[in-house]
Amino acid sequence: MSPQTELPGKLTAQSWPAPAKLNLFLHVLGRRPDGYHELQTLFQLLDWGDELQITVNGSGEITRSCSSDVLSSTIPESEDICIRAAKLLQAYCDVSDGAHIDLIKNIPVAAGLGGGSSDAATVLIALNRLWCCGLSQQQLARIGMDLGADVPVFVHGHSAWAHGRGERLLPVTLGPRFYVLVFPPFGISTAEVFQYPGLKRDSAPLEMEKAGLQPGRNDCQAVAVELFPELADIMQDLQAWGQPHMSGTGSTIFLSFDSERPAINTASKLKCRYNVRAVGGVDRSPLLDRLSA
Ligand code: C5P
Repeated sequence: MSPQTELPGKLTAQSWPAPAKLNLFLHVLGRRPDGYHELQTLFQLLDWGDELQITVNGSGEITRSCSSDVLSSTIPESEDICIRAAKLLQAYCDVSDGAHIDLIKNIPVAAGLGGGSSDAATVLIALNRLWCCGLSQQQLARIGMDLGADVPVFVHGHSAWAHGRGERLLPVTLGPRFYVLVFPPFGISTAEVFQYPGLKRDSAPLEMEKAGLQPGRNDCQAVAVELFPELADIMQDLQAWGQPHMSGTGSTIFLSFDSERPAINTASKLKCRYNVRAVGGVDRSPLLDRLSA
């Protein structure tokens, strides 16, 4: 569908991207008094993700539809992060209009790629524009933090070095990078990994200048492997193609490449064994480009 599509009744659906992310490394520094964990991570935004078709209407209601049967049958509307994001903004800005959100779900659920958080960020950014709320990026990121720790990076829309729960962000330039994403046939609950008694929670804080901007250790990986031992087999198998890393709390495993061709070749060789996708890294989110288009 083109960015603007005429619908019956003169309502207009607009198309908005919701990119996926990778955590190139993920260190857990400790537990916080609020129950969350203090993290350090390097967020790499990707040129691939979900797509949201958003139609504003005068009903005051927020409704959704979704291309993924799994999502619409397992998550009731009231718990859907897109609906929650829209309702938070609607209440915060005292908006009387409503919206319909049609989610074209490409990012697997519970895959460590930030799909739900990115969808929520896109709803906040798009409805801020469409409802003429006039909130700043900072205000939207603060609202987003209540929806999920990964929402702020998608609102700010830059690959970033992050501290805290994931909201203290320093934009970085990673340049052209390419990845093969390997999707295991299961998702992993973020909450379960962070609650796991054996999670390593004592990584020393790093300084960005010393650490560099390369993929590195993920402290959640050992727990993910304990919960799903088949992850260890996949990582072992992928060693033949490069150094595999896990994103977020899993389950996605990725391989990194400096140029596109080897990434595409590797994905095409792996596709008979795994569900894979070759993607590009981006320093600037396609959502920001959509806003300025
Ligand atoms: O914020 P989000 O919904 O992504 O987090 C899911 C769960 O992961 C939280 O309820 C929390 O238990 C855990 N978490 C954490 N520390 C973080 C991020 C998430 O403990 N920095």
